[in-house]
Amino acid sequence: QIRRVVAIQVLDSRGNPTIRVSLTDDGGREFVAGVPAGASTGTREAKELRDGDPNRFGGRGVSRAVEHVNDEIAELVTAQAWTRLADLDDALRSLDGTTDKSRLGANAIVGVSMAAARAFAHDRREPLYRYLSSLTRTALRLPVPHFNVLNGGAHAANALDFQEFMIAPIGAPCYAEALRWGAEVYASLRSELRRVGLTSGLGDEGGFAPDIADPRRACELLVAAIGNTGLNAGSEGVALAIDPAANGFFDGSSYSLDGKEMSPSALVEFYRGLIDEFPVWSLEDGCAEGDDEGWQLLTRELGDVVQLVGDDIFVTDPETIRAAADADLANAALIKVNQIGTVSETLDALSVCRERGYAAMISHRSGETPDSFIADLAVGSGCGLIKSGAPARGERVAKYNRLLEIAAQENDVPYGLAVLRVDR
Ligand code: PGA
Ligand code: ZN
Repeated sequence: QIRRVVAIQVLDSRGNPTIRVSLTDDGGREFVAGVPAGASTGTREAKELRDGDPNRFGGRGVSRAVEHVNDEIAELVTAQAWTRLADLDDALRSLDGTTDKSRLGANAIVGVSMAAARAFAHDRREPLYRYLSSLTRTALRLPVPHFNVLNGGAHAANALDFQEFMIAPIGAPCYAEALRWGAEVYASLRSELRRVGLTSGLGDEGGFAPDIADPRRACELLVAAIGNTGLNAGSEGVALAIDPAANGFFDGSSYSLDGKEMSPSALVEFYRGLIDEFPVWSLEDGCAEGDDEGWQLLTRELGDVVQLVGDDIFVTDPETIRAAADADLANAALIKVNQIGTVSETLDALSVCRERGYAAMISHRSGETPDSFIADLAVGSGCGLIKSGAPARGERVAKYNRLLEIAAQENDVPYGLAVLRVDR
């Protein structure tokens, strides 16, 4: 049983306040979780509670959310010996009482839920990934890491409208090699940027943020960087994945890309051009939240050639993903624990994906902590896909290194995509 619940305010990787939750059981064992935070968020995400006091951290303090953990939530968690994570998560939702977790704060709730998952795993004498896999009833799998090596949009100060350009070592023989390939391409990209006279300063997710504006130019740099390492660019080697995060350049009816106004159909054609020219295998948030027609068109036109991941439109909500599957929007979902606010609901979102034949990609946030929960979630859910930023910076490599640890512990676990949806 959990005897003690303590939250404190700490800083995340952007220097913004966030929450660290610690649970202690009868045996004196401590279970800790760190709460991440997004910068380009979907409007229907579970609501993190911020203090709003302009004199402290520019209003971004989380002392009220911390108090909620230490008072109301601590009382709930220590009141009984919980035997199921789903029951505790339900109780947290009822205690909050809102549909978006805004009263106690999704940041307060998710930290407790993640730490509790660790406590339940320990009760069963299992590593976290095994415990999560028993809840999802899926086989373990080491995911293909998607390294975000060029940053734009809300994560960088450059003129690049597209938010993320990722490299995905789909063709690597095992996870350790995939990580090596990622690190080598990252180093190669740094040299390539210097060679062509671009700066190699970093964005929020540890990728480079050179002063470029054209998404084509970004893809060219990536293909050159991959080629310079001697690896193949494509799904037999290192493929590209893009998250334009289209919410960031949508005004409600059209998209504004590199200074040009584009209709949804012009944007879809632009993507088609990129996909024809470069080995792009996955495209996330190609259209914006609210542009259902754009999403329909995108899915109809490109759903057979690339993975189309919904992030801001799905916000890890099981019901939203189910409805989208009914309407044929996208063919994959991004999964972020803090977007929905409890581990159990995240697992529900993963089962909806499985039921409906949607791929699922486990994701970090642009504001992170050293917590490596998502590495265990990726292996336990068997979904085969993870993105955790560049293969650099402590908060990003914490996840990639945790996957190495798991790979070293589990010799027989396969690496790679669960389903090869498209062969590029
Ligand atoms: P965020 O962005 O963590 O800043 O919301 C990540 C993403 O859009 O995938
Ligand atoms: Zn995204």
